[in-house]
Amino acid sequence: MKVLVTGGAGFIGSHTLIELIGKGHDVVIVDNLCNSSQESLRRVEKLVGKSLPFYKVDIRDREGLSKVLDEHKCDVCIHFAGLKAVGESVEKPYEYFDNNISGTLVLIDVLRKHGCKNLIFSSSATVYGDPAQIPITEECPKGKCTNPYGETKSMLEDMFIDIQKADPEWNIVLLRYFNPIGAHESGTIGENPNGIPNNLMPYITQVAVGKRKELGVFGNDYDTHDGTGVRDYIHVVDLAKGHVCALEAIKRKCGLAIYNLGTGNGYSVLDVIKAFIKVNGVDVPYSIKSRRPGDIATCYSNPAKAEKELGWKAQFGIEEMCRDSWKFQKNNPNGY
Ligand code: NAD
Ligand code: WQD
Repeated sequence: MKVLVTGGAGFIGSHTLIELIGKGHDVVIVDNLCNSSQESLRRVEKLVGKSLPFYKVDIRDREGLSKVLDEHKCDVCIHFAGLKAVGESVEKPYEYFDNNISGTLVLIDVLRKHGCKNLIFSSSATVYGDPAQIPITEECPKGKCTNPYGETKSMLEDMFIDIQKADPEWNIVLLRYFNPIGAHESGTIGENPNGIPNNLMPYITQVAVGKRKELGVFGNDYDTHDGTGVRDYIHVVDLAKGHVCALEAIKRKCGLAIYNLGTGNGYSVLDVIKAFIKVNGVDVPYSIKSRRPGDIATCYSNPAKAEKELGWKAQFGIEEMCRDSWKFQKNNPNGY
């Protein structure tokens, strides 16, 4: 298939390009580079051994996007482009609603005007809020999001559901990611956050490489096995492969489909720190801090639906996730 990849220069997008090309698909990349660097695409090109069509276009730019689709007749869009920093979204709600929601509306309109009514969307486990059940199945009701970023994901899901209901020619797969970490085994592409990392793994790797003094562990009084927050970490390469499997659902004309992409295993913050130290033989100094507002105790998936219907199952464990996150950071102490 010919796949329009929005946000293809980013963390998950760049890894997905490799898996798509590996399975013989063609890609067209659109990214405004607001949270990424074209260097990631150069490295992807090196890994796949060919040059890739890239357009530095903002998804809110109707004309720019139309030109890309005039030039390339795409069968499907994998839509990664969006702003994703939870804390920043509380400071700048307008920017998050404008970028994520207005941008996606422009994208949907341009796609349908070009006869491309197939889309895979990057949603998030954040739509479950404080989950009503653990492990979380897709039937679990959506919850209250504690920040504008999460609201954008939840609202966009609802919009996609209404759009597909009104026009059943659309095939839309909503993929709810759990916590993606890790990096490509080559150590050449990975997660490259700007400024102080918000997420656990990039913070750990920056402490390990000496860029930050110590990790703050946000709370050790949760109702979990060691008191620290439990999450379903998933290797980004497994997550990337999930998108290739989701293309099969699109081919089967799935209508609207929702899948969790997680491993089904929950690890605490201390479990991750210990695994990282053991696998990589480096120290990660940490101290216990107070809880981070908006955090929940436990979040992990039941990924059985994706296995049954897409034939997808995560292959990598926490050791590989820690090994590959560190490999990228060590090889690229200052990012791209
Ligand atoms: P990322 O920031 O690395 O990638 C997003 C890419 O989109 C970046 O390259 C950025 O430059 C681009 N972009 C943003 N706004 C754009 C716009 N208006 N026009 C064109 N390009 C734009 O983030 P990621 O971790 O790769 O996440 C990809 C998607 O998955 C996002 O939608 C994110 O919300 C979602 N998601 C991420 C996680 C996570 O923990 N990383 C979890 C769940 C969902
Ligand atoms: C994981 C655990 C923290 C940093 C976020 C978004 C979610 C999704 C994935 C996009 C928690 C603890 C963290 C640190 C810590 N993104 N932690 N010290 O919060 O599960 O999910 O990213 O959709 O929407 O909310 O991920 O990596 O920030 O935190 O102790 O410096 O690590 O409290 O228990 P989270 P995270």
